[in-house]
Amino acid sequence: MSVPGQADLVVHGGTVVNATGSRAATVLIAGGRITALLDANSPLPSHARAIDATGQLVIPGGVDPHCHVGQRLGDVSMLDDHEQASIAALWGGTTTIIDFAIPEPGQTPLEAAHTRLKQAGAARCDTALHGGVVAWDHSTRGQLFAMADLGVRTTKLFTTYRDGVMADTETIRAVMATTEELGGVTLIHAEQNHIIETHQKDAAAAGHRHSRFMASMRPEQAELESVKQVLTIAEQEQASVYFVHQTTADVVDLVRQARARGVRVYSETCPHYLVLDDSLYEKQHPERYVCCPPLRSTATRDDLRAVVLQGHVDTIGSDHCCYSTVQKSAHADDAVNVPNGLPGVETRLTVTFDSLVSSQQMAVEDFVALTSTNPARLNGLRGKGYIAPGADADLVVFDPHQRRAVTTSDLHMATDYTPYEGHSFTGWPTTVIAGGRVVVDPDGFHDPGPIGRHLRAQSQLDGHRHLMTSLVRDATQRP
Ligand code: URP
Ligand code: ZN
Ligand code: ZN
Repeated sequence: MSVPGQADLVVHGGTVVNATGSRAATVLIAGGRITALLDANSPLPSHARAIDATGQLVIPGGVDPHCHVGQRLGDVSMLDDHEQASIAALWGGTTTIIDFAIPEPGQTPLEAAHTRLKQAGAARCDTALHGGVVAWDHSTRGQLFAMADLGVRTTKLFTTYRDGVMADTETIRAVMATTEELGGVTLIHAEQNHIIETHQKDAAAAGHRHSRFMASMRPEQAELESVKQVLTIAEQEQASVYFVHQTTADVVDLVRQARARGVRVYSETCPHYLVLDDSLYEKQHPERYVCCPPLRSTATRDDLRAVVLQGHVDTIGSDHCCYSTVQKSAHADDAVNVPNGLPGVETRLTVTFDSLVSSQQMAVEDFVALTSTNPARLNGLRGKGYIAPGADADLVVFDPHQRRAVTTSDLHMATDYTPYEGHSFTGWPTTVIAGGRVVVDPDGFHDPGPIGRHLRAQSQLDGHRHLMTSLVRDATQRP
């Protein structure tokens, strides 16, 4: 048990950043928890290991709300497991990952959740889990209740990938209603499938199947139409809905307008949609950048960045999917069959910091809100996403001035490429503390073993709704 003011570890000399404000302070840690924040000039407690964060930021450990770990989608499996993904996450300053239990053919949502929870036992950082539903049947409601008992209260649905994981409208409606009853949130991958299939058919007829043509096969219009439809259902069901990986200012704006009408809806985007663009599909190895939705034009990317800077996006998730260049290139000439998704759990904080804070002068508090505080709140993860007495001791000493180029050989994800190879970014973690243990420091990685706990999502109905509707969105909400 942690006692206020006790410490076996202290972090001193840095600027402690919360979503609600920053101050020079010393953080005291004992028993895996933060026990006190002292004024910067207070004497350090004796007998405690001291981490000197002078000149650096001390931020809450990152919470990655969107991380596929070793998942099988269609015929292909991602290459990592919970050990590898969590180690890569920690290297990058993320101390909590939220994985997905998307049912495979023949598997029920509850079976998928049980399987994933068992696998997550190997994680080196704390984990939480999103469930998934493909098709509603007489047993689904009971399964969602059983999953909530396991602490899984967020459920992902797809409006695309027919013959795969696509859910029909009645499934979407029923999952939203039941998830709401359970005090949870429905996650939506929104792309209108028939628009995509029409574009894919037209592309095939023109002989344009190659990954080079990826962007044109899944146009912005598909995302826009799907978000509109899902918002209508959410409003009718009075459900809480979170749109994963939004790629355009237009869809973020639809969410913002719905929110203004009182609908509990939220926007997530990903670092790659803020930094990369669809010109990569015209260069070498376009298949390495195949993700759904695809990378957009530079104009769309810049507009998306602008709405993030205006405070209209709630979270930044990695949408981490670990495939190798061999897996990607096996179907390069047929974009529809390229395993989709990009590796990114390790680069999420740095790419986001560089593109929003270093390059665009977003406040560091808003960066913390997007990458840690808001993902923790929206997923009902108590003790995560802030630095204060009683919080879990997940901290990152982050150097806001360090600049270096990304190269695969320096990264720890279970793949042989990064979409950011050669890009220089400013802002890197230098020390990472997870559950009160120093796991990354200038000497390297100190493997704590499989200490990651499965975090049970709190119900919004237990007073958590207040937290969720008071997300920190912009500077005007700071004291
Ligand atoms: O391309 C992507 N995003 N793949 C991962 C699965 C998903 O849709 O989130
Ligand atoms: Zn998705
Ligand atoms: Zn995803």
